[in-house]
Amino acid sequence: MFHGNCVTCHFETKAVSAPSMIEIREHYMRAFSKKEDFVAYMSTWVKDPKEETSIMLDAIKKYELMPYLHFDLESLQEISAYIYETDFSKEHNGHKE
Ligand code: HEC
Repeated sequence: MFHGNCVTCHFETKAVSAPSMIEIREHYMRAFSKKEDFVAYMSTWVKDPKEETSIMLDAIKKYELMPYLHFDLESLQEISAYIYETDFSKEHNGHKE
């Protein structure tokens, strides 16, 4: 699910039209050390992307606000947990899209 959807904009290791997943993950890791906080904040934010609640305002200036995606909260929690668990700097060889 993550690979099919998020990766169209968020390449895992390089930033093209949106910050890379490595950048986002590092940023969120710094802000939320606990997995439950990380997952709760990210899934809620992606459900309803808003400048006021963004923790990556520089990215919005650079790329514009992320568009709204039609995911339910439960799927987003799964995706966020996956992002939390995955070290993208080691993952990018041989991943499937
Ligand atoms: C159509 C392109 C696009 C898709 C698809 C997309 N994103 Fe984004 N995303 C962006 C852009 C552009 C930004 C940077 C601007 C911003 O933060 O809003 C961003 C920022 C983010 C942020 C940073 C939030 C913050 O605090 O500002 C998170 C987290 C995120 N995306 C997660 C996801 C996840 C998870 C998915 C898949 C379910 C996804 N994105 C799919 C374009 C996309």
